[in-house]
Amino acid sequence: IKEEIHLKKLEIMKLKNKQYFEVTVGFVPTMGYLHQGHISLVEKAKSMNDIVVASIFINPTQFNANEDLSTYPVDLESDSKLLNQAETDLLFLPTPDIVYPKGFSTYVQVESMSDVLESKSRPGHFRGVATVVTKLLLIVNPSNLYIGQKDAMQCICISRLVQDLNIDTNVHICDTIRENTGLAKSSRNSYLSQDEQQQASKIYQILTDFKNRISSFNDRNHFIDEITKLLESNPNVKVEYVSLASHENGLEILDQFPPPPKSNLSIALFFNGLKRKTRLIDVIIL
Ligand code: PAJ
Repeated sequence: IKEEIHLKKLEIMKLKNKQYFEVTVGFVPTMGYLHQGHISLVEKAKSMNDIVVASIFINPTQFNANEDLSTYPVDLESDSKLLNQAETDLLFLPTPDIVYPKGFSTYVQVESMSDVLESKSRPGHFRGVATVVTKLLLIVNPSNLYIGQKDAMQCICISRLVQDLNIDTNVHICDTIRENTGLAKSSRNSYLSQDEQQQASKIYQILTDFKNRISSFNDRNHFIDEITKLLESNPNVKVEYVSLASHENGLEILDQFPPPPKSNLSIALFFNGLKRKTRLIDVIIL
């Protein structure tokens, strides 16, 4: 891919009469099974860069033993079509043995992430994300990186590592794309039936409603308990956490209620669908 990016840069140089170092590369890393959420990142990258690179790699190190690595959905044909329509210039499709060859032994750990709730729910997850994203950034060497706000804690993790490791890329955090019902688009929504997706769209409605009513609560625990209770009024839902956290480091804000502007109100829950149990996350910015 490095060679292909180099050649593409030379091509753009001539075409746009630019210097080599002026040719910009936008990068969108994904795990595939693409939907409009991913494509919105590609479109954003396209609007800001000379070259857009996307990657599809289901990264084994960010899944723990009881998660859905082996059943994570795949549809390369549809992915290629969507990426083509969005005029992606290059697609990087590495295999696990390319990313993690025999003898691989270096991991990136953003230490502050170990105290955020999402990390406690998914031990080792951010170590896997940080490691693969660092590797992808070093390979692609993009001017601009595009990631989705939906994965709020992932945004904090990636922004942190880019800053801490002096990686020369600008991180752009892009809005969450939703279904008309408000349900955040996710590759994992495909685990749910239409009816179950409709039920899951309540998540966003509840978050928005509580965001609007936050000033009528005077206690953090009460606020969180009420959200949990309402989410779990659907017998198919088991809440993992409701979090009120800092947008800067993802740590819970315990001492200030209502929390400061831009705080993240995020949830993780299990939806017990007919086909399977599905973990969903969502976030809104206060
Ligand atoms: P994946 O879940 O495939 O998501 C790829 C990118 O798309 C992430 O930046 C994610 O936040 C963004 N995204 C997903 N759903 C979105 C939505 N509804 N609206 C806007 N953006 C959305 O996140 C990962 O893959 C991986 O952890 C990865 C960063 C690729 C590292 O393996």
